Amino acid sequence: MNAPRHYLQFKDFSRAEYDYLFDRTHWIKDRFKRYEPHHPLFDRTLVMIFEKASTRTRLSFEAGMQQLGGSAIYLNTRDSQLGRGEPVEDAAQVISRMSDIVMIRTFEQTIIERFAEYSRVPVINGLTNEYHPCQILADIFTFIEHRGPIQGKTVAWVGDANNMCNTWLQAAELLDFKVHVSTPPGYEVEPEQAGCTRTDHFVRFDDPMEACRGADLVTTDVWTSMGFEAENEERMRDFADWQVDADMMQVANPGAVFMHCLPAHRGEEVSAEVIDGPQSVVWEEAENRLHVQKALMEFLLIGKV
Ligand code: CP
Repeated sequence: MNAPRHYLQFKDFSRAEYDYLFDRTHWIKDRFKRYEPHHPLFDRTLVMIFEKASTRTRLSFEAGMQQLGGSAIYLNTRDSQLGRGEPVEDAAQVISRMSDIVMIRTFEQTIIERFAEYSRVPVINGLTNEYHPCQILADIFTFIEHRGPIQGKTVAWVGDANNMCNTWLQAAELLDFKVHVSTPPGYEVEPEQAGCTRTDHFVRFDDPMEACRGADLVTTDVWTSMGFEAENEERMRDFADWQVDADMMQVANPGAVFMHCLPAHRGEEVSAEVIDGPQSVVWEEAENRLHVQKALMEFLLIGKV
């Protein structure tokens, strides 16, 4: 049996493979929009394991697998043995004998890496504490749709140095664009932690306005996970000046777009004027999770077509 290919962080694929995936996503999305069936994964089974809550990730993977002709099974760690002490290595061996591909959303990158080591089938990262590669895949595809190739362009990341920020840094190194990062003092990004080997593809800014100046894309994420706001009053104070607002969009390049992986808190990390304004592409961005992940599952299971 050949070792399966996994997608655990953005740098797991080459630039040429991303070129293929983005082209393929255009084709898959076009078929979807024309209601033309495309069932290359007939009879295949996706298992989706969730330790953290989700709307977009669950829907896009489940609907995506159904649209490709297969089926999806949802497991969460609260009502399965996964959250009751079953070793991740054992779970990986069992689940991967009953399925064709696995998607995991977990609090720890090390858990998904251990699962992948023991899995007989491809494993996809549906978000960990360190990375969110499927989201950045959708974001870059959305950028290409609106602004053309991302090579040589500038992305402004405003807010927390989280799993999204880390993944943007990895993507910039691989796909050759720049990331301007502005985080509050004490929340700085460390490119080594993002698994980057170079530092010339990113610039730190103390002032978020300066990070947005000349950017082609301005993007951010929640300051606190949804549902945990009351426990994070200190973070809310620390991040108060890092709200993406109309002034920041004003200094970006003409035609710049705004993205947010969602869910969002209007009036916190982004003003309502921006997220609901003409530069925002957040709904297309959310929809594109479906299309890029269909291309990703097809690629991991049957390769280039
Ligand atoms: N952006 C994202 O991953 O959304 P969910 O948390 O709803 O899956």
